[in-house]
Amino acid sequence: MRKVGIGVAGVGRMGRIHAVDLVSRCAKAGLACIYDADRDRAAALAAQLDVPVAASFTELLDRSEAVVIATPTGTHAELTVAAARAGRPVFCEKPISLDRATTLVTIEAVEAAGVPFQVGFHRRFDPDWVAAAERIAAGELGRVTLFRTSLRDMNPPNPAFLAGSGGFFVDVTVHDLDVARWLVGEVVEVSAHGAASDPAFAELGDIDTAVVVLRFANGALGVIDNSRSARYGYECSTEVMGTLATARIDNPHRSGLEWRTPGAATRDIVRDFEERYPYAYAAELDAFAECVRTGAPPRVTGRDALAAFDLAVAADESWRTGRPVAIPQGVNA
Ligand SMILES: NC(=O)c1ccc[n+]([C@@H]2O[C@H](COP(=O)([O-])OP(=O)(O)OC[C@H]3O[C@@H](n4cnc5c(N)ncnc54)[C@H](O)[C@@H]3O)[C@@H](O)[C@H]2O)c1
Repeated sequence: MRKVGIGVAGVGRMGRIHAVDLVSRCAKAGLACIYDADRDRAAALAAQLDVPVAASFTELLDRSEAVVIATPTGTHAELTVAAARAGRPVFCEKPISLDRATTLVTIEAVEAAGVPFQVGFHRRFDPDWVAAAERIAAGELGRVTLFRTSLRDMNPPNPAFLAGSGGFFVDVTVHDLDVARWLVGEVVEVSAHGAASDPAFAELGDIDTAVVVLRFANGALGVIDNSRSARYGYECSTEVMGTLATARIDNPHRSGLEWRTPGAATRDIVRDFEERYPYAYAAELDAFAECVRTGAPPRVTGRDALAAFDLAVAADESWRTGRPVAIPQGVNA
């Protein structure tokens, strides 16, 4: 089967993972071309992967059947709209924009262009999470009573990234908020507390540690804990308790090797999202390629991304005001 030729815009932390996956891991999607505003970075990766490098985003579109947008968040909307208007299906990293109105305009522009549009919530494609979601949806867990999830980075990203990230809740917690909607259902109220353990975050008006409490429409409660600098490693784990069963996804070890010495046993743990999700990042691009080929709607849509963004903004508001924020229902349909 011929692979869908995908161009990648932005080959920093995340775009490089996508480019490498398209070359080496994906079964249905292949790498057509790469483009980055930093020409040296693009040229170095193009040489390493032996793929063409475009001199502009327009040239990337010309050389690709579909595109991945992995540039800084503030550029996603403009590039997504340009790609959709050129008739190219778009896979866009999360979040779509730092601003609700722009997010909505982007979704509407893509819908008007009639091209597939998928957003990068990779956990929806990870085998463990998918298996849990299927069993929860099949009713095996009964009525969900409690959702608990942790997302913690080992080390914070560089200051230049942080400045354009949109802040902690929009950049980090948004992943857990998407998972909360996916596994449990719509959220009706968000309460959040945040702290800056590192003064560098306070100087940016941002935080590096947060706890978010959710109330779901179905009566379940949720708690999310997030950190930018867990120091011991990267953690992404979840638990969904129900009246019949509990689903738990723990962080896997980095390898199967356990090193035993008298009275101690040590195993490596994963250090970042690339090590934690080798399958999910490739699977989300294969699923996107399948949508490009068949025209089927993506598993994670722009409207899903908007709903998660709204919850992240509500968490931000709750942290700043110290009050719970009610979530209006049915606004993103
Ligand atoms: N899904 C995930 O797990 C995940 C993880 C990390 C980052 N992200 C998202 O991916 C996006 C990129 O994050 P990152 O950490 O890779 O950032 P990064 O700063 O490491 O990389 C961004 C790259 O885009 C390039 N760039 C900047 N403006 C550009 C433009 N207009 N056109 C082309 N290239 C441009 C930069 O030179 C850089 O190489 C962000 O939206 C972030 O939220 C998602």
